[in-house]
Amino acid sequence: MRAFSSGLHRSGKTIALVPTMGFLHQGHLSLMEKGNALADHVVASIFVNPTQFGPNEDLSAYPRDEARDLEMTRRTGVDAVFMPDVQQIYPHGFQTTVSLKVLPNHLCGLSRPGHFDGVATVVAKLLGIVMPQVAIFGEKDFQQLAIIRQMVRDLDMGIDIVGAPIVREADGVAMSSRNMYLSADQRRSARCLYRALKAARQAVADGETDADTIIRSATSRISAHPEAHIDYITVCDPRTLDDMPVINGPALMALAVKIGAARLIDNMILTP
Ligand code: PAJ
Repeated sequence: MRAFSSGLHRSGKTIALVPTMGFLHQGHLSLMEKGNALADHVVASIFVNPTQFGPNEDLSAYPRDEARDLEMTRRTGVDAVFMPDVQQIYPHGFQTTVSLKVLPNHLCGLSRPGHFDGVATVVAKLLGIVMPQVAIFGEKDFQQLAIIRQMVRDLDMGIDIVGAPIVREADGVAMSSRNMYLSADQRRSARCLYRALKAARQAVADGETDADTIIRSATSRISAHPEAHIDYITVCDPRTLDDMPVINGPALMALAVKIGAARLIDNMILTP
């Protein structure tokens, strides 16, 4: 991988990196398309990173389809796919972790302790191996994007971190590799996340400024689905992720809901 990147550097070409855990969908491909527009060459990585999964999470069940992924990247104009195995990334004796102090103490970080240390560490390694000028991340994982931006700034990595909008299915459900865990009924229930976000956006556009009111209404909308179990619904400052009780500027509404075996996340910016 390094030889490939060094060769491109020597010929003055730029590289965009799109890190993924595979089982690709149009959300992932939109990042690769963006990479094509921003750099001369696109590298995608596919690595189901064990250190970002908690002990009771879905690491062993995480869906994989290497052949299909490779075909999809080929059709999207990706120049190289980096698919390391776990021993290459975490060899015997590995002992360094990248850990942020503040941003992980919000949203998903609260219910997934250690998750963002795993993400920051593997992304630091992928950036170090691939040596891109640009790396692209989806706004679907809004907190992850904020954490990567902060890490790159704090550690002077000098890489341009670019965010890309959430890609949704026709019915509004955010695309996710984890949607495949849903039964047909659960998949229908999953629409309640986007519907709750849209209703919140409308309420704020219509003049509602009280975050509690917005959160209560989203809670009752989602709880109407017996299979949906809310992990959190938050309205916060998009930069700091601190709670924003009064919506007096653009606010991030973020939510995580368990439906069946899938923990689904989604978010939207609410603008007064
Ligand atoms: P993964 O869940 O495979 O997602 C890879 C990238 O695709 C992330 O930047 C994510 O935000 C983006 N993405 C996923 N669904 C999307 C959608 N519907 N619309 C737009 N972008 C979407 O996120 C990870 O993997 C891992 O944590 C990783 C960064 C690779 C580190 O292991």
